[in-house]
Amino acid sequence: MSANIIDGKAFAATVRQKVASKVADLKETHSIIPGLAVVLVGEDPASQVYVRSKGKQTIEVGMNSFEHKLGVDTSEEVLLALIDELNADPSVHGILVQLPLPSHVDESLVTNHIAPEKDVDGFHIANVGLLGTGQQSMVPCTPLGCLLMLRDYHGSLSGKNAVVIGRSNIVGKPMAQLLLNESCTVTIAHSRTKDLADVVRRADIVVAAVGRPEMVPGDWIKPGATVIDVGINRVDAGDSKTKLVGDVDYASCAAAAGAITPVPGGVGPMTIACLLANTVTACCRINNVSGEDFLL
Ligand code: GUN
Repeated sequence: MSANIIDGKAFAATVRQKVASKVADLKETHSIIPGLAVVLVGEDPASQVYVRSKGKQTIEVGMNSFEHKLGVDTSEEVLLALIDELNADPSVHGILVQLPLPSHVDESLVTNHIAPEKDVDGFHIANVGLLGTGQQSMVPCTPLGCLLMLRDYHGSLSGKNAVVIGRSNIVGKPMAQLLLNESCTVTIAHSRTKDLADVVRRADIVVAAVGRPEMVPGDWIKPGATVIDVGINRVDAGDSKTKLVGDVDYASCAAAAGAITPVPGGVGPMTIACLLANTVTACCRINNVSGEDFLL
């Protein structure tokens, strides 16, 4: 069997088009320009790349981008004061504080300081609680991107056995919650799970989000299952070169699966596209404008 490749790059481009046309409509009909503020503390190279890419794509879809770059020694107090300003600023509809933060800053304190309606990451405890009880919330971008691809490929997900490998607050837990809300039977597996291979073999849908290069081999995949690979791991490729690989062994998993997301070009591009979509959603809700369901 040769798996269908779920093209996240192409899917993300269609999401960005929908975002751009909704942004144009908000401007024309309501004179509102959605705005996204991104806060970066320190100089982590990977975070700098992500933040630059977020700013560029925000502008490309016609929204306002506000970047706040703070030194690595920035105090918690100064960071919280900036968030207060952004919470109160009517031109800002989405606020994202890039993680990880330096160790002297309490990430939970910062995340929970963002106004829940502007929390485009969906990390605030109010949004976590709303998602967990099936109520309208801001949904974390990476799991939202995975869900959109799964819905597009399968239509209904009702009754499917889904196994999420990884229990992070950013991906694993919200992904499991979203799949449960779609009426999947959901298992969250993690580093202490016994007989992981057997657990994964029962899955119609596997979402791998562990951050360990190529840890899922093809013989764990039920023939015909759908594999969503959230991992983005940089590994040695010999000749002092590096390459990106996912959390699943692509060649062997693609041989068993019915559908699979590649790395790169799968989940990765969907994350920023969903951030842009969440900013439009937040903007519509804050301004009581209908059409926040433009993605569906
Ligand atoms: N760092 C890695 N992924 C994310 C994300 O989705 N949101 C934020 N704020 N920081 C991150």
